[in-house]
Amino acid sequence: MAYPVIAIDGPSASGKGTIAAKVAETLQWAYLDSGALYRLTALYAKEQGVDLQDENAVAELALHLPVMFHCGEILLNGSNVSADIRTEEISLLASQIAALPKVRQALLQRQRDFSRASAVVADGRDMATVVFPEAVLKVFLTATAQIRAERRAKQLGIALNTAQFQQILSDIEKRDEKDKTRPVAPLKQAADAHLVDSSDLTIDETVAKVLDLYRQVKK
Ligand code: DC
Repeated sequence: MAYPVIAIDGPSASGKGTIAAKVAETLQWAYLDSGALYRLTALYAKEQGVDLQDENAVAELALHLPVMFHCGEILLNGSNVSADIRTEEISLLASQIAALPKVRQALLQRQRDFSRASAVVADGRDMATVVFPEAVLKVFLTATAQIRAERRAKQLGIALNTAQFQQILSDIEKRDEKDKTRPVAPLKQAADAHLVDSSDLTIDETVAKVLDLYRQVKK
């Protein structure tokens, strides 16, 4: 590995994207949002009319994804798709194609290439276990399902004692189960990863904790 990597993995809605981006900004390292690559592949397959069950065809698209990350924006074939990849439909399609081994393989080198260009903070599900096993710091960021659901509800402006909130909580629990039990690259804490539970921490406190861990391993 040419440059150092901080790997941050965790379940959905754990806030790892926010934390990873802020840690990267503080250290002035690049930020790799690996989930975006799965989302982009799903969007591209949909746009190209490729059958998502056709593993070889989707993997081929993933291999040649015409993507550019530029100043916080994500361009696919030159169009800004930063918002398009975050829809509920694309979330579902991304989780479908993320279970295909050939698609994961196709995206592997692309992810590793990030650390050839500069130091990087990478967030995802398998950063520490598969993509960057030699990362200088591995963090497994979590929070209880209840807290993650509350944070998501707050973002969406949904009150906590509603059926909509119960739906968010149950979706998070279902996704956790799916992520942990899928046969390919399941979500699990690497043996040498530091567990950070952000249930009782603010964003800034969580960022400070990760930076503190980095300072300790750097010594
Ligand atoms: O983190 P996210 O919600 O943007 O991820 C989108 C999908 O991609 C989600 O279903 C999990 C999957 N994913 C993965 O399998 N491996 C990664 N390293 C990152 C995301």
